[in-house]
Amino acid sequence: MNTTVTEIGDRIYRLSTFVPEVAPPAGFVFNQFLIDADEPVLFHCGGRRFFPSVSAAVATVMPVEKIRWIGFGHVESDECGSMNLWLAAAPQAEIIHGLTACHVSLQDLADRPPRALADGESIDIGTRRIRYIDTPHVPHGWEAGVLFEETTRALFCGDLFTHTGNGPALVETDIVAPAMAAEDIFHATALTPTTAPSIRKLAALKPAMLAVMHGSSYRGNAANALHALAGYYEQRLGAALPTRTLIPA
Ligand SMILES: [Fe+2]
Ligand SMILES: [Fe+2]
Repeated sequence: MNTTVTEIGDRIYRLSTFVPEVAPPAGFVFNQFLIDADEPVLFHCGGRRFFPSVSAAVATVMPVEKIRWIGFGHVESDECGSMNLWLAAAPQAEIIHGLTACHVSLQDLADRPPRALADGESIDIGTRRIRYIDTPHVPHGWEAGVLFEETTRALFCGDLFTHTGNGPALVETDIVAPAMAAEDIFHATALTPTTAPSIRKLAALKPAMLAVMHGSSYRGNAANALHALAGYYEQRLGAALPTRTLIPA
């Protein structure tokens, strides 16, 4: 297992591990993001078997024990399977997540108590601020949420825009069509009436970059990309709903 490190924004590092066995023949990447600040943030932990490779990748940027905050999109093994290994390796680290994730799962699963953040609450990490945003069931998981770094306007959007393959770390080309193709393979997104509005709420942040967990990250008009993704899910939901038949009284 080999994890590559790329600085995709000002002191924002993408740690990427390609797993060809997942979604062959294109394969699939699992990414973590490291924000280098006075209080460094790791977003996504990786599964437990990724820990040796990902922690070695972090160590090329900073000592692992410097990590202060650990976040992730929702409670699944690729997002947080190794969280207790990180908590052991970084004694100052605290897990941050929304109220739902903390109260439903993390207060029990995590070896140290997590810090629960309200929707929209931010933390000053020194020269930068990270804001937690609730996105329940988007793309999946009641407890789902994302992080927005206010200085660089980087949106750490977790499984949104998931796509297959081992593309470049950062692209300025379309990532919506590859995400739609991946959705047709995985059907990973919960299609509800709130899916598109939640994604449009993220577009209103006008992010400058989308840090994508599975696939290439994106720099460009991220608001447009988010609106296009929301429109796609709106269309899918509309197509999935039965046509309403009026029963005469
Ligand atoms: Fe997920
Ligand atoms: Fe994921």
